[in-house]
This record gives sequence, structure tokens and C-alpha cells, in this order.
Amino acid sequence: MKKVRFGLIGGGFGALIGRIHKMAAELSGSAELVCGAFSRDPNQSKKAGVELFDIDPNRSYPDVETMCLTESTADEGRRAEVMIVATPNHSHFEIAKQCLSSGFHVVCDKPMTVSLNQTQELAELVKETGLSFGLTYNYTGYPMVRQARRMVLEGQLGEIRRVSCEYLQGWLAKDLSENKQAAWRTDPELAGPTGCFGDIGSHAENLVSYVSGLEMKEVCADLTRFVPGRKLDDDGTVLIRFSGGARGYISASQIALGRENDISLEIYGTQGSIEWKHSDANSLVFRSNDEPLKLYRSGGPGEENMSRDHGLPAGHPEGFIEAFSEIYRNFFENIRDDAQAEFPSVMDGVRGMRFLETVVASSEEGSVWKSLEGEVR
Ligand SMILES: NC(=O)c1ccc[n+]([C@@H]2O[C@H](COP(=O)([O-])OP(=O)(O)OC[C@H]3O[C@@H](n4cnc5c(N)ncnc54)[C@H](O)[C@@H]3O)[C@@H](O)[C@H]2O)c1
Repeated sequence: MKKVRFGLIGGGFGALIGRIHKMAAELSGSAELVCGAFSRDPNQSKKAGVELFDIDPNRSYPDVETMCLTESTADEGRRAEVMIVATPNHSHFEIAKQCLSSGFHVVCDKPMTVSLNQTQELAELVKETGLSFGLTYNYTGYPMVRQARRMVLEGQLGEIRRVSCEYLQGWLAKDLSENKQAAWRTDPELAGPTGCFGDIGSHAENLVSYVSGLEMKEVCADLTRFVPGRKLDDDGTVLIRFSGGARGYISASQIALGRENDISLEIYGTQGSIEWKHSDANSLVFRSNDEPLKLYRSGGPGEENMSRDHGLPAGHPEGFIEAFSEIYRNFFENIRDDAQAEFPSVMDGVRGMRFLETVVASSEEGSVWKSLEGEVR
């Protein structure tokens, strides 16, 4: 199988998610890291490429601009085809724009940008260029999350009435401005208009939309800052009215002491309900009033994802990096084989950013109901 060549932006010394992108992309079995601009500091960037990723020193670039210029004019059989953006939120827009304009497909981490206008501009650029744009809403890569979506879409739950999703973390329960990851996440210039909701509520919005298949119509939000001096929300809850009449909520917190990356989803319909939680990601519970509960397991009986020929037999735990790599597998299938595999797209990014901006507006105006309807360009 031909390997897709990719470049990585971010992921330098001490960075969190860049190396996960590399591992996940390569774990998909069909890609290799060939170049990168790994840090804002040109010297650190060049050094990181060699020391952390062992790539050709000539392709460990000082900055994104130099990388785009050099790679886009390199031999076709050698140059990078995809650029992965794993930098803090405020930089996604300019970097993604530069990569698309230079002819590269892009995979970007969430939230896609820091404003709806920016996401819409990128969506237009994706349309104009015909290039692919993926977003790493990686929770949708878990086999049991995909199973849940199939069960909902096939009508096994009946008509959906109630959807709830919580994403609880405790690591920002006190001021951590010395911590590299905390510093930019709590700075509006770098994180965007929301802290906790942009960082993890964004995952919850995507998970809810992906599994339920429902459109959010209106939201009423209450975002809070508990840590003194903090400029962005570190906790909040959003009530949601969906098209079709279902109701629900998303609650996200980074001050929930002792909680790790505890995202969980519950959906209740007229025939049954499902529950999935990240702390037991290889299980999916189905309940109804008429029979004992059913426990679905990754790779186990009843799991319907026939495309999981790469998956492990039941009982071998699959985790975060495997789920992440599913997003990459689908993305690469699309650009390499022209397949129609689904992956979180630029339109998920536009919808996600509309959600975040509306949530912030609702909360700032005193927790009023706000419509999410509007043309998605
Ligand atoms: N999908 C997920 O589960 C997940 C998890 C964590 C973070 N994220 C997202 O990933 C992004 C990065 O988060 P992180 O925690 O890894 O941040 P981080 O601060 O740990 O790392 C960011 C890296 O980007 C580099 N960088 C910044 N500007 C750059 C530029 N212009 N050119 C090249 N490199 C540059 C920094 O030097 C650093 O190495 C954020 O958007 C975050 O929301 C997603």
C-alpha cells in the first residue's frame, strides 16, 4: 500500500498532542512523517525534528512558511501530501490557510479556529481548492462510539428524547500558569473566546452530534470561572433543544477534582437507551424496560463494524491512540484510494465553532436561549 507522506506542525519539545498525531497517523498503517515545523522557535523546531522524530535534518524546517514553500515545489514522488496542525488554537487558521493555499491536504486539531468567520473562510478555501480537510475529534474513532451511532441511526433506540454528555477534568482546579499547556488554554489571545468549552466542550458537541445524528437548534449556557484571576471559563453547562423535540445537555469542567479525561454520553429513545464512557471505552451498554441490559464490547458479538479488519480480538484493550488512528485511517483512505470513508470534516468544524460562539453569547447575555440555526456555508 502506498504510504501517504505527511508533515507535522507543532509537537516540539514538551508538547502534548503532536507526537500522538504522528503515532496515530503511522498506526493507521499507511502514512509516514517526512517533514515538520515543530515549534514557534526556529532553532527548537529544527532540533526537534532530528531529536524527537529522527527525520531528515533538511526537512526539519524553522517555520511553516519555509516548509510550505520548499515542500510544495519538491519532486512529486517525495514531497509531503498532508500537513497536520497540532499547535495552540489561535494559530490554526493562518497555518491551515497557508497549507491549503500551498496545495496540501490538512488535518487540524480542534477547535478548528477561534471564530466562526475563520472556520467559514477555511471551509470556502477547502471547497475552492478541492483539497481534503479533517479534524481530530478523535472520540468518534472508538469502535463502541461508532457502534452507538449505528444503533441510533438504525432506530434501535426508537425516537430520541434525551441526550446528555459530560466531559470532566480536574487538572485546572487551581492556577497553573507556569504549565505550558495550561498557560495558552487560559489565555483568550491564544485559546479563543472560551476556555473549558473550547478545549473539551468542543469534543462533547461533536460526540453528541455524531452519535445522535440530531441537529442542535437552541442552547442556553451557563459558563463560569472558578479560579481567581482566570480570564476564561473553567466550568459550564449548556441546555440543548434539538430539532425533532429531543432535549439534552452538555456539561464540561476542568475544576472537577480527581476527574481525568472523563467524557461520557447517554442517549435515551422511546425503545431503549445507550451509555458510553471513556473510562471503559471498549464497552457500550444498551438498556430498555423490556429485557436485561446488553453489554457490547469492542471486537465482541453484536459489534457490527465490518470494516474493522485491523481491529483486535475482543479483550485486548484498544485505547486513545487506536481511536485517533481510526480518524487518520479514514482520512487517508479518502485521499489515497478516493474512498468515501467518513471522517470529521471542515463542516464539523464550522458547526462546532457556531456552537461555541453561541454558547459564549448565551452565557454572557445572562443564560438566555440562543438559536444555532443559520446558513452553514
Ligand atoms: N484531539 C485531542 O484529544 C487533543 C488533545 C490535546 C490537545 N488538542 C489540541 O491540539 C492543539 C495543541 O495542543 P497541545 O496541548 O499539544 O499544545 P502544546 O502547547 O503542548 O504544544 C503546541 C506545540 O505547537 C508549537 N507551535 C506553536 N506555534 C507554532 C507555529 N506557529 N509553528 C510551529 N509550531 C508551533 C509549540 O512550540 C508546541 O511545540 C490545540 O489546538 C489543542 O486544543 C487536542
